Amino acid sequence: MTEINWNEYAIETQAVRAGQRRTPEQEHSDPIFATSSYIFRSAAEAAARFSGKEPGNIYSRFTNPTVRAFEERLAALEGGERCIAVASGMAAIASTAFGLLKAGDHVVCSRGVFGNTVLLFQNFLGKFGVETSFVDLTDYSAWEAAIRPETRFLFVETPSNPLTEIADIRRLAELAHGQGTLLVVDNVFCTPALQKPLELGADLVIHSATKYLDGQGRCVGGAIVGPHELLEKQIYPFLRTGGPAMSPFNAWVFLKGLETLGLRMRAHSENARGLAEWLERQSWVKRVHYPGLPSHPQHDLAQRQQKTGGGIVSFEVEGGREAAWKLIDATRLLSITANLGDVKTTITHPATTTHGRLTEAERAAAGIGEGLIRIAVGLENLEDIKGDLLRAFA
Ligand SMILES: Cc1ncc(COP(=O)(O)O)c(C=O)c1O
Repeated sequence: MTEINWNEYAIETQAVRAGQRRTPEQEHSDPIFATSSYIFRSAAEAAARFSGKEPGNIYSRFTNPTVRAFEERLAALEGGERCIAVASGMAAIASTAFGLLKAGDHVVCSRGVFGNTVLLFQNFLGKFGVETSFVDLTDYSAWEAAIRPETRFLFVETPSNPLTEIADIRRLAELAHGQGTLLVVDNVFCTPALQKPLELGADLVIHSATKYLDGQGRCVGGAIVGPHELLEKQIYPFLRTGGPAMSPFNAWVFLKGLETLGLRMRAHSENARGLAEWLERQSWVKRVHYPGLPSHPQHDLAQRQQKTGGGIVSFEVEGGREAAWKLIDATRLLSITANLGDVKTTITHPATTTHGRLTEAERAAAGIGEGLIRIAVGLENLEDIKGDLLRAFA
């Protein structure tokens, strides 16, 4: 059978078909290869595989057919040559760092990233002699000024968590390439259904598959997408040795999740836009952060760069932590959990959960106040979500 070039197909088709290779059983759905190792026809074949002279499966820490199917499907969706699936979103960022960096190297990272990303760069990579400078996401002169000869990559999350600030990916890619460095984009909030960083010039894309790629809050996983050469030569060797592998079962769940990604992202965005517009009209809401609102500081950029505003809305209430906790605790329908990208709407207080391990000064610099609440809008009826918040406020 001739190989299909998935780049020739639309994203909806890639999402349901790319990556699948049928076994002789002719199954229609993707199978799960629940196996930790693979057998060889002979000792000579084992030696050829181990030495890399012959391609093929050896051990599921580094290759597994179900994981490969997920990798090929996500690579097609992001328009990347290669994808490496790993155990979590943090494992994707850590594997990228361990694969690309050495002592003495430097990273420039936007300040408004997921709290654990800050800790990984600052505390752990710092221990191995890698320095990270944190800059304001939208301050391009700060990005430029922070780049040094030893800067190996720029790392940006756009939209950012939890304030949904937007960085201009094309501009940052031009800046990075002009200075001989790389741009890594965390595409968790948008997914390739809404934003394709590689097409805008980014070198690598990071995913927490735990979020929208799964879409139903079932499994933890992550992925890195980018050029074959960079992934194969620099990041894959870390996966093989360091071992943050994705389980075949999780890969299968993510494969199923990808099939409905486009539909879900459209529905999440529609509900989120409706909720953000409604929140903006409430007297008890001080400020709403949502890229799809004309009041968002980077609304025009978001309109150009993303298909829709996405599913995350955050807002500020008067009265700091006490008022925010009271409102969160009084909801009945919404789930109090820090996860996002689920069909169920979730509500969280970033200052004491996702960003709770940062210092007060770091949170203040990132604009994460005590009165800030983040909602990852799910697929329930919008009127029921609004009703729950209104009742909780009352
Ligand atoms: C934007 C972003 N990137 C990365 C991660 C890390 O992903 P994981 O929890 O799968 O390790 C998260 C998790 O919440 C996130 O929100």
